[in-house]
Amino acid sequence: MEEVRLDYSKYRFERAEGCLDESRDMFMRDKLLTALNRSYYAIFHAIRAVTIIDGFESKKHKGIISHFNQYYVKTKIFPPDISKLIDSAFNLRGYADYKDMYIASRKETQEQISNAEYILTTIKPWLAKRWAEIEKEDKIMNAIFTRTSTRQFTPDKVESKYIIKILRAAMAAPSAVNQQPWEFWVSDDPEINERLSQATPYATPAKNAPVVIVPCYRTNDLAAPMMVEIDMAICAENILLEAEELGLGAVMLGIAPLEDRMNYVAEILKLPENFRPFMLIPIGYPVSKRPQEDRYEPAKIHTV
Ligand SMILES: Cc1cc2nc3c(=O)[nH]c(=O)nc-3n(C[C@H](O)[C@H](O)[C@H](O)COP(=O)(O)O)c2cc1C
Repeated sequence: MEEVRLDYSKYRFERAEGCLDESRDMFMRDKLLTALNRSYYAIFHAIRAVTIIDGFESKKHKGIISHFNQYYVKTKIFPPDISKLIDSAFNLRGYADYKDMYIASRKETQEQISNAEYILTTIKPWLAKRWAEIEKEDKIMNAIFTRTSTRQFTPDKVESKYIIKILRAAMAAPSAVNQQPWEFWVSDDPEINERLSQATPYATPAKNAPVVIVPCYRTNDLAAPMMVEIDMAICAENILLEAEELGLGAVMLGIAPLEDRMNYVAEILKLPENFRPFMLIPIGYPVSKRPQEDRYEPAKIHTV
């Protein structure tokens, strides 16, 4: 998905530059109405190159423009005068395209072309920076954007070097006052996994998983006991991301904070008194892989 956005953004900006060239060309040939139209489209495609980066699409020009104003001008990413210039280009292009007998002046057309040049040269360096960031993010954060829960596994065993890598990732997690409350119980015993799968009505993925990791936390010697579940949740996410990175699949099966589920799992694993199970994480090679759904919603971001 990131790649698609990147490609579209680059393509749209190229179109913007193409329209600007056409607009200058039309101006030279005294075709002022067409020059107004092309310079407006230069601006429009340039702002579409920006808005596609956060996934925003609209068939309506006004929709694109108001999104751009809200999230890129009001937020001071681009200077405030850009909004007025876009409005003016939108209106002039409306007259040029639809108003009978509209006579465009060379001065206003020249001015609009200069405005389009200003907007494109303002947007271009920002876009170039975002494109480079996205390319980099794609490499380092791929697992975040490809991970989905896996609930069905092939019978293939998971190599122990991978389990170790996953547990290394788990233990790399941040924790409150660095208390690192975790220890891990790892089961590749089909009988135990079957029993674990009965911990809750939703834990069936544990049944046929080649391995189930059970991150547990100690209840003693904690500097910030009230933070322990937050620590464990972050650690569990690291497990899922590292599994994804290694071409494996995993899913979180919720156990804590429900006492009956926790007691059931603690008994199966014969946990010491001072350890409590947090979650079941079956891991294995996925039977199938689906693309991650895009949950990004700009409306959930509030600029203050
Ligand atoms: C705290 C927690 C508990 C979960 N418990 C279960 C569970 O019991 N059974 C299950 O199949 N999935 C469970 N999930 C997985 C979610 O259903 C899954 O993450 C969610 O539907 C989003 O899908 P995705 O992980 O593919 O993005 C749990 C996830 C979390 C974070």
